[in-house]
Amino acid sequence: MSEKNPQPAEAAEATETPETHPGARGALAAPARDGRSAHSAPGAMFPDGTGPSANPVGDRHERRIRSFQPRRSRVTAAQRDALLRLWPKWGVEIDGDRRLELDELFDTLPPGSPVILEIGFGMGEATVRMAADDPATGILAADVHTPGQGNLLGQAERRGLSNVRVANGDAIILLREMLAPGSLAGIRVFFPDPWPKKRHHKRRIVQPEFVELAAARLRPGGLLHCATDWEPYAEQMLQVLTDCPALENTQADGGFAPRPDFRPLTRFEQQGLDKGHIVHDLLFRRRP
Ligand SMILES: C[S@@+](CC[C@H](N)C(=O)[O-])C[C@H]1O[C@@H](n2cnc3c(N)ncnc32)[C@H](O)[C@@H]1O
Repeated sequence: MSEKNPQPAEAAEATETPETHPGARGALAAPARDGRSAHSAPGAMFPDGTGPSANPVGDRHERRIRSFQPRRSRVTAAQRDALLRLWPKWGVEIDGDRRLELDELFDTLPPGSPVILEIGFGMGEATVRMAADDPATGILAADVHTPGQGNLLGQAERRGLSNVRVANGDAIILLREMLAPGSLAGIRVFFPDPWPKKRHHKRRIVQPEFVELAAARLRPGGLLHCATDWEPYAEQMLQVLTDCPALENTQADGGFAPRPDFRPLTRFEQQGLDKGHIVHDLLFRRRP
């Protein structure tokens, strides 16, 4: 996730965090300067469990799809403040070592409330709008991008939302190790990094292994909603989703879906539209 045009005030206040950061579309962040990988650098910005950790999963769980790569990112003073105050309450480390009880995680909602996982929320502007529009649904938003985590937590607090939880780390490990089969009402993957170079295609998150896993975590009737502005990736998504036996296309013609009203414009979508890209939504339902 790159912040293309940071506000001057934000840039002046920004401090670097040694955490993970994706890179397919370029980033402002500098690589680790001390020769260590950003993953192994200590999370000194947030000591003693007060903020998201640099590498919550360590090397305990295999990452077969490396859809993001470690980078340094900068957090503004406001993002850091939000993380320090709100992470202990609303943050979830993706350590891969425990099963999440969703009723406990969303203890502000009635037991059995639907939960939607958003993978790769970026700065979280669209996430917070969807959460505000649907307060009876728990939104579990996962990303590795520390500034975005701070931004989302701060915005959720400002809007008085209690249905947002922010997960730090690899969403694939969250799905595989920490969420029960059939536990999610929906999964959203909006504008995932397109990894346009052929040799990087294996880094794209939407591929058969991921889709099978995602389908298994959805409850019957649950929706897997993807969107992209990258035409070849859209075609790949359509193929992979169509080939998954556990899913069915919500579109009778087996094609892309019209943009649903409930999906707000996202930051990366706007960047794609500015370049004249065409946006495709894909809406697939978990079969009974
Ligand atoms: C291109 S950005 C899109 C952000 C946002 N959805 C939007 O449309 O503005 C993709 C995001 O996915 C995140 N990401 C990539 N792979 C991930 C993974 N395995 N787990 C969690 N987040 C991931 C990146 O950190 C990045 O913020």
